[in-house]
Amino acid sequence: MSVTERVPAYFDHLIDGFRRGTVGRSVHLGHWDDAAGRAGEPMRPGEFERAQARLDEIMLEMADVRDGQAVVDVGCGFGASLQRIDEGHRHMRLLGVNIDARQLAICRELVPHRHNALRWVLADACALPLGGASADRILCIEAMFHFTSRRTFFLEAGRVLRPGGTLALLDLLKEFFGDVNRKLFPPTRPYALDDLRAVLGDARFRRHRLRRTGRRVYRLVAEKG
Ligand SMILES: C[S@@+](CC[C@H](N)C(=O)[O-])C[C@H]1O[C@@H](n2cnc3c(N)ncnc32)[C@H](O)[C@@H]1O
Repeated sequence: MSVTERVPAYFDHLIDGFRRGTVGRSVHLGHWDDAAGRAGEPMRPGEFERAQARLDEIMLEMADVRDGQAVVDVGCGFGASLQRIDEGHRHMRLLGVNIDARQLAICRELVPHRHNALRWVLADACALPLGGASADRILCIEAMFHFTSRRTFFLEAGRVLRPGGTLALLDLLKEFFGDVNRKLFPPTRPYALDDLRAVLGDARFRRHRLRRTGRRVYRLVAEKG
């Protein structure tokens, strides 16, 4: 099976929506700082997009992205997270990885600041076409549940990160994929957090912080030993 044949089908609609201007560049959930106070209230115009941007901001803080780094975004969607880094940092080497050539075509429409390099590559997260110890940061935002093996992805991330480099990811737990979501997001691979801890050790990550948001989502930052 070629990489493109494994593109999740819901992206047909998202790409169409992006081209028509009804879908934004971010393809992930959002973060509400005032979530408790807003529970049950109808969404205000632009609120979801602001919450998506806030989530990107949190992920970049977690990853400790700084000027001068080589950053790889695996499962990069339409390129929103790398666009944010390009806007806020200098002398960056930014690389987006995706299995979908159509999404990468959308990413390639982004023009980076002249002090940054921005590249996009068609590849599978479980076979990254990158040299060992070549990246300072790897991001993976709401994409890992699609990969054929989370274990293989962690081993790949561990290989590609330089010692002291950081993997920052957000992933969805199996509780997310009930009812409607199961139809929207096939195929998905449910995962237990205990399995994950063992894999992190095998991939030679020496420290990690894991934060669960409710029953369905977790964020992880792990440092390569
Ligand atoms: C929910 S989207 C998240 C996109 C982006 N990270 C964001 O937050 O806007 C999941 C992304 O993972 C990509 N993807 C799925 N399977 C993949 C794989 N095996 N290797 C690389 N990318 C993959 C999809 O094409 C899509 O771009």
